[in-house]
Amino acid sequence: MEHRIIESYLTIYHFTELEPEIQVLVNKAKEQYQKSYAPYSRFHVGASVLLENGALFEANNQENAAFPSGLCAERIALFYANAQFPDVPVRAIAIAAYTNGSIVENPITPCGGCRQVMVETQHRFNHPFDIYMVGRDVIYHVANVKELLPLLFSGDDLTNS
Ligand code: THU
Repeated sequence: MEHRIIESYLTIYHFTELEPEIQVLVNKAKEQYQKSYAPYSRFHVGASVLLENGALFEANNQENAAFPSGLCAERIALFYANAQFPDVPVRAIAIAAYTNGSIVENPITPCGGCRQVMVETQHRFNHPFDIYMVGRDVIYHVANVKELLPLLFSGDDLTNS
């Protein structure tokens, strides 16, 4: 038997420490949560995606009375960006959330399904991208989705014989 410890590398920023283009990205995610459609959970999520060509895409969560038919902000933003620019890798994504009258205190981290879609996006372009998770006072950053999803499954595993 053998035990292994898997470590993740996370950086914690204050807003003013971010590069100007990332500050814009964070502000776009916060703008977006205000337009989300979340009448069931009242948990409003905004996501903004910056592509390597400089294009910005924004989205928010869209719920449905048939709950599984809704979709998270991150997936809508990533799918939207990749639908418009299928050949351009993602440089960064920012995620922010609002509930009970204010932005969430602890940075929002993406759900498992969104992490898996981020794996696909990274694998598709063979290009890791920055993930910024926004809280009231601090912003978490990882430079690769594997920090959020260790032992991940990607297209590489389908040819792993
Ligand atoms: N949600 C997101 O949009 N992104 C996440 O990373 C977590 C959860 C949405 C889904 C649902 O509309 C609401 O937040 C509550 O789960």
